[in-house]
Amino acid sequence: MDDTLRMAMVGCGAIAQWHLHAIEAAVPEISVAAAVDVDPARAAALAARTGARAFTDLDEALASGTFDAVDLMLPHHLHESVAIRCLDAGMHVLLEKPMAPTVEACERILAAARSTAGVFMVAENAQYWPEVLLVRDLLEQGAIGEVITARACSFVPPLEEFFGAEQPWRFSKAAAGGGVVIDAGSHWIRPLRMWLGEMTETVAALGHPFPGMEGESLCRALCRFERGAVAVFDVMLAPGPLGPDPLFRVTGSEGELVIEGIGRVKHFDGAEPRGIVVGQGNYLQSYEGELADFASAVLHGTPPAAGPEVALGELRAALAMYRSHETKRWESVW
Ligand SMILES: NC(=O)c1ccc[n+]([C@@H]2O[C@H](COP(=O)([O-])OP(=O)(O)OC[C@H]3O[C@@H](n4cnc5c(N)ncnc54)[C@H](O)[C@@H]3O)[C@@H](O)[C@H]2O)c1
Repeated sequence: MDDTLRMAMVGCGAIAQWHLHAIEAAVPEISVAAAVDVDPARAAALAARTGARAFTDLDEALASGTFDAVDLMLPHHLHESVAIRCLDAGMHVLLEKPMAPTVEACERILAAARSTAGVFMVAENAQYWPEVLLVRDLLEQGAIGEVITARACSFVPPLEEFFGAEQPWRFSKAAAGGGVVIDAGSHWIRPLRMWLGEMTETVAALGHPFPGMEGESLCRALCRFERGAVAVFDVMLAPGPLGPDPLFRVTGSEGELVIEGIGRVKHFDGAEPRGIVVGQGNYLQSYEGELADFASAVLHGTPPAAGPEVALGELRAALAMYRSHETKRWESVW
């Protein structure tokens, strides 16, 4: 089989730049053959950088026969229709998270994927986040004994590239399906699931501190996991300046593992009660792992680190948090 994957980037906005950077840095087996965006300037800019052909119409791009795979990086309400269109056209599909904003839409996409021979992956880059993988390895080695609890915290200011537009689609509940939980929250939920097992139930309170955003811009939730641990999940799109806070802490019977915002992983135990640095990662490398995994699945038939149905877990967790905010009770995730 060919050792190059000819791929179209569909949606040439913010995350496309990060994917492109990852491909240029570390995934030479992907050749960007087409740049597709309804905004001609965006398609043209990405095409100019990669030598790809620019398209403003997906059907025209699919008919061109210039690529075998698509990387779909579109607002959430378009995921279902575009993913199914590409799967039906015989494409290998990498679809940005969330798979879709409803479980029913996800089931329809999964059914379409099952009926084709191509690779279908949901782009949950946290699955490849180096610091998260290091913590998973250390937990498996018993570095902190029995896990008691964990905390995931993503309090962030609005990055210009994601929120800079005059009317960001993220501010529309109809386009995004919710707010910060269904969007970037998935990157904090996936690690908790990787470390603690499946999330079974949650109780959450939502808030709207960020002006103009229809969906929640704050969520504070307790989440119970199948192995018994209860973790805290805190996310906020902050309207003002923030102090430092670790991204994650996992607390065990014999110590603690902490992932700091700058990518440093620290281990605290009886021998090192002040903590020692056991690793240094970089969030952006998670995209390299994700795209390399997709290319390998297509070119070599290797199983992806996580099948697409795993991504249902983050969506179900988000929807359970939304229900819990309304009912003011614990809500089952599954
Ligand atoms: N994994 C991550 O870390 C991460 C980070 C940001 C965004 N995302 C995901 O990536 C996706 C896109 O987010 P973004 O921030 O890049 O959005 P964006 O608005 O910056 O980019 C989306 C692009 O899609 C284009 N577009 C809209 N409708 C189209 C259509 N019908 N056909 C072709 N192009 C169309 C827009 O013109 C725009 O350029 C979302 O699913 C989001 O959740 C993931």
